[in-house]
Amino acid sequence: MKILVTGGCGFIGSNFIRYFLKSYPNDILINVDKLTYAGNLENLSDLSHSPRYHFIRGDIADVSQMEDLISKGVDAIINFAAESHVDRSIQDPNAFIRTNVFGTFVLLEAVRKVFPTQKIRFIHISTDEVYGSLGETGIFTEKMPLAPNSPYSASKASADMLVRAYHHTYGLPASVTRCSNNFGPYQFPEKLIPLLISNAIEDKELPIYGDGLHVRDWIYVEDHCRALDTVLHHGREGEVYNIGGSSELPNLYVAKAILDKLGKPHSLIRFVTDRPGHDRRYAIDFSKIEGELGWKPSVPFEEGISRTVEWYKTHRDWWKKIKTGEYLDYYKRMYGDR
Ligand code: NAD
Ligand code: DAU
Repeated sequence: MKILVTGGCGFIGSNFIRYFLKSYPNDILINVDKLTYAGNLENLSDLSHSPRYHFIRGDIADVSQMEDLISKGVDAIINFAAESHVDRSIQDPNAFIRTNVFGTFVLLEAVRKVFPTQKIRFIHISTDEVYGSLGETGIFTEKMPLAPNSPYSASKASADMLVRAYHHTYGLPASVTRCSNNFGPYQFPEKLIPLLISNAIEDKELPIYGDGLHVRDWIYVEDHCRALDTVLHHGREGEVYNIGGSSELPNLYVAKAILDKLGKPHSLIRFVTDRPGHDRRYAIDFSKIEGELGWKPSVPFEEGISRTVEWYKTHRDWWKKIKTGEYLDYYKRMYGDR
């Protein structure tokens, strides 16, 4: 199989590429990535000499580049490319609309132009955030109406609707996956877990929004990669699959678990102004992918967080290089001078 991955220099994309090349020794993978602030060639530097891995710097919103690339022939596209951070979408939604909505449209159009001569399997990586927020009870199922609350989740929901329409109207063999919060190696340290780990290692304060009781369902990134592999090979066209970690935890619990693993005091936790429109709780019903395709998460939170803390302890150079320049400006805007 020849697979086009978009956004493969980011967190989940780079984990997926490494996982996939190891799992399928005869497949070829092309990674097209714009290398935004979140894209990092170092995430895949160990693969740069592999004859089965090819990197192209490109923008999924560039019509001629995507048409050219896709018309050369690929068997599948896995669309990870996105602006992915909720707080940045609140500060400036522009790039989120361009990449997440228009970029997905450009890819779908390029696939439609070669269809049905070429039947390209399209896996669109979406998020549980498209369902909005839960209260104390309830769980997201694929049948729930979409109710996105941030510019980020609204852009992702818009893309999901385009994918749905291209399957329904033109018959494109597309599926959508909606996963909960990932964590693991190579996650950009603007996201909660790598931010807290790297700050704690440096004895800096750990910023927690609001009362710290917002709940996320955490999944170790390798489990997400395995789920995507399953959907790519066995998922039904036109379907949406929820993917979750069975690990609903309040942010405060996560912060304390990280400090405990590192042997640092809980007094490093600092409560800061809440995120505007902050979704209170996410919980994922993944019984569809489990029942139909036999996937379920395999790495418990305790094990995943131990592995992740260890990875950030042994890869200081990786995150220290990121925590300079643009990152410091962003950090100051978000958290002040501390
Ligand atoms: P990330 O921000 O770490 O990586 C995004 C990658 O996309 C970067 O390499 C970036 O350079 C690239 N990119 C951005 N705009 C591009 C463009 N116009 N053209 C080509 N490449 C572009 O994101 P991530 O956390 O790895 O998320 C990957 C995907 O998974 C996203 O679609 C996100 O919405 C989705 N998702 C993420 C999570 C999570 O917890 N991180 C959970 C569910 C779904
Ligand atoms: O649910 C899937 C989504 O998870 C993905 O679609 C997004 O791409 C990904 O960024 C993530 O979104 P969240 O907003 O849930 O992740 P984040 O790591 O930014 O925040 C996790 C929780 O921690 C959330 O309740 C906000 C809180 N938080 C976050 C930061 C950065 C803090 O309390 N302090 C912080 O400094």
